[in-house]
Amino acid sequence: MLKSSCFRSYIPYTKHFLHLFLIRLGAKVTIITGAASGISEAAARLFVKNGARVVSVVIADVQDKLGHDVVSSIGENHSSYRHCDVTDENQVKETIDFTLSKYGGLDIMFSNAGFLGQIMSIMDMDMGELDTIMAINLRGAASTMKHASRAMVERGVRGSIICTTSVSDSLGGLAPHSYTASKHALLGLVRSASSELGKHGIRVNCVSPYGVATSLACGLTGVSSDEMEAMTSAVSNLKGIILKPRHIAEAAIFLASDESALVSGHNLVVDGGFSVVNHSFPLFR
Ligand SMILES: NC(=O)c1ccc[n+]([C@@H]2O[C@H](COP(=O)([O-])OP(=O)(O)OC[C@H]3O[C@@H](n4cnc5c(N)ncnc54)[C@H](O)[C@@H]3O)[C@@H](O)[C@H]2O)c1
Repeated sequence: MLKSSCFRSYIPYTKHFLHLFLIRLGAKVTIITGAASGISEAAARLFVKNGARVVSVVIADVQDKLGHDVVSSIGENHSSYRHCDVTDENQVKETIDFTLSKYGGLDIMFSNAGFLGQIMSIMDMDMGELDTIMAINLRGAASTMKHASRAMVERGVRGSIICTTSVSDSLGGLAPHSYTASKHALLGLVRSASSELGKHGIRVNCVSPYGVATSLACGLTGVSSDEMEAMTSAVSNLKGIILKPRHIAEAAIFLASDESALVSGHNLVVDGGFSVVNHSFPLFR
């Protein structure tokens, strides 16, 4: 008797956890830019895993072969690939129109496409590269915000817009100047957009990774993934764990889901405390 009443008292909790772990995103329609590789690719896989039966992810990138491969391995019932160069506003709009007509709506925009560029002195700054980086990292994300929020507002959807910034959105000296400037600007845009879109019930947030061994990060210094992970682990604050694309994807899932229903204008930094701890003063070494 006692046992069965204990069991009954667990049922609501069990249901709650099932809801949290199995269907965190429900039947939400998501666009992820830059999802042919790296962090976004991990996110596309995790979004589908965390969705209910009808979750749909549109993978938007310029690397068509890789993008189609990701869709084939996730399954065409759950995902589609669209060629979308985020520097071209028309392509962004077309990707959103495609999503609306194929899946009937848009709930989540994860704007993750990015470009790092080369390390160079400010005295030798390549203005062309500055323009390219701004066009992808800032203007590209701005286009996705513009057209995603239009679609959400027109349909009365309380959506979630997430951008990937970087620990370089508030710290200098970790990446090329142009990249650092673009991510600082993107953080400003996220905060500014959240101030307007709140009245429509749309949340705008960003996720800020520390070093993840993707083609973008490894390409900067020409090192392998293992070497990159060794380099970042050596200077990281939180020891015994290596930052992987999955960790960023999990933060994005949180920002996409109703678990973060009251979170907007927030910069969710995923860096194990790297950007808030000053290691130059050896108090606890
Ligand atoms: N890897 C890191 O250490 C790190 C750290 C902080 C922030 N980030 C950010 O994470 C995001 C993802 O980067 P990643 O590390 O997964 O690298 P990645 O190179 O694996 O992924 C970037 C993706 O963006 C796509 N892309 C580039 N230009 C595009 C364009 N014009 N239109 C559409 N897609 C385009 C690329 O094809 C690629 O698939 C970027 O915004 C990056 O700035 C990465």
